[in-house]
Amino acid sequence: MNSDGEDISSPKGLARGLTNYGDRDFSLYLRRSFAKAMGYSDEMLERPIVGIVNTASGYNNCHRGVPELVDAVKRGVLARGGLPIDFPTISLGEVFLNPTSLMFRNLMAMDTEEMIRAQPMDAVVLVGGCDKTVPAQLMGAASADRPSLQLVVGPMMTGRHEGERLGACTDCRRFWADFRAARIDKTRISAIEGNLATTIGTCAVMGTASTMACIAETLGLTLPGTAAIPAVHADRLRAAEATGAQALETARLGLTPARLITEKSVENALRVLLALGGSTNGILHLTAIAGRRGISIPLRRLNELSDSTPVLINLKPTGEGYMEDFHTAGGMGALLRELAPLLHLECQSVTGETLGDRLAAAPAYVDRATIRTREAPFEAVGGLVALFGNMAPGGAILKRSAADPKLFEATGRAVVFTSLEDLADRIDGDDLDVKADDILVLQNAGPKSPAGMPEAGYIPIPKKLAQRGVKDMIRISDCRMSGTAFGTIVLHVTPEAAIGGAIGLVQNGDEIRLSVANNTLDLLVDDEELKRRRQTTPARPARPGRGYGKLYADHVMQADQGADFDFLMASE
Ligand code: FES
Repeated sequence: MNSDGEDISSPKGLARGLTNYGDRDFSLYLRRSFAKAMGYSDEMLERPIVGIVNTASGYNNCHRGVPELVDAVKRGVLARGGLPIDFPTISLGEVFLNPTSLMFRNLMAMDTEEMIRAQPMDAVVLVGGCDKTVPAQLMGAASADRPSLQLVVGPMMTGRHEGERLGACTDCRRFWADFRAARIDKTRISAIEGNLATTIGTCAVMGTASTMACIAETLGLTLPGTAAIPAVHADRLRAAEATGAQALETARLGLTPARLITEKSVENALRVLLALGGSTNGILHLTAIAGRRGISIPLRRLNELSDSTPVLINLKPTGEGYMEDFHTAGGMGALLRELAPLLHLECQSVTGETLGDRLAAAPAYVDRATIRTREAPFEAVGGLVALFGNMAPGGAILKRSAADPKLFEATGRAVVFTSLEDLADRIDGDDLDVKADDILVLQNAGPKSPAGMPEAGYIPIPKKLAQRGVKDMIRISDCRMSGTAFGTIVLHVTPEAAIGGAIGLVQNGDEIRLSVANNTLDLLVDDEELKRRRQTTPARPARPGRGYGKLYADHVMQADQGADFDFLMASE
């Protein structure tokens, strides 16, 4: 039985979840006759069904290889006596969505959940990859609780420009910063533009997509060893075929997401997120996925784990390499083996095998330039840390592995931008009163703001400072940052400005103190003055009055709750 009380281990195929006409036999008769319109034989219609979520879209470059993957999944299902049926859901191409892809993650999760539940399938293969698609699919699958296997599209290969290896999208940001600072000209930046994202697949670094692929594998929801296979590698197609072949066996074993997403597997995923130096979005998405199974992730627990989990992976944006290096270095198997003493080894995967069994196999080749040992880590402590204080009572996130340690203990003068529009209007102005040791603050960009928590936390260095060679400053906001970005950037400040959080009370010239050693973020303004400001701060920005925008604004939760909708959390 799954958590909906449905018997998921006995295949029902086309007879599962009949359309309600008040006559079950008629419903099945009608369904079979309409299925026959698609040319299926009786033999095929008797088979158990594996649904395949097809997220190919002309608006999603990362998913350009999905049709070929779906074909390979189908081969695997057919070979094991199942009937594969693919169906579309929303697809989220990161850079094609306005105002920000996060706003549509919950919509895709609802689409995925409801289509899994509403249509007849004994198991489902979720084909996804771009940043928000894997979180959305895992959130939806966790709620639908049908046997589910994630197949990621895999990372892009790197490109080359004038002898230099390039990969989306850490290098996109590095070269753009050089262009803003007039270190490279328009001809060069245009030439680079064509060499940053050159193949099918997801961003080539340890950004959000790669982080989520590794988290999916750690949760046991992909086939072991498949998270990092490059999108163009023939092994990616073999992984797809094997995933299709595994699907009905996963159903037979009754391995639904409820069995795999447990407190222990979530803690394993947190360890992996920290050891990867993974994306700050990873904590947001993992919190949302876990929340669908009633599991919470207190940010103070994140800090305990972070202090005892070294960063072992040398990939951009934290280090040097790209996902293709991670794959050839040994991939997730090598990383998990290194982390084994810190992991709950009894957790299972979709194969039914425990993590302990998997890792007991003889160690494979490991390239230590990319995957370090715990004794000689890339960094001694985990990549992410949560900060608390009067500026972020509900917490904020800093990716310390991608930040400048020289800025970890600092008190600085606030330079405030009240919205994304204000930021765009003034950041490069000659008259902006800003110094290199100031702290840039962006307000009103959190989940409930009209901006919808975009990846704007990577506030650009003001042009006049960039041109003087300033490459990093402390930047604070209630929004997010791309997993491919780097810098001393405090994100996800909770509560956000739009619901009266203290970040919205900061004024130009206030002093802010950051201490990574103490995990604190404080606005050095006394309580009386903050009380006075709270009474005189203008009302929060108007919200959409209709449609999905209204649903989102009314129900999205804060970052520490994964920015999921309140009505989609697991019921008590
Ligand atoms: Fe799709 Fe980066 S744009 S993963």
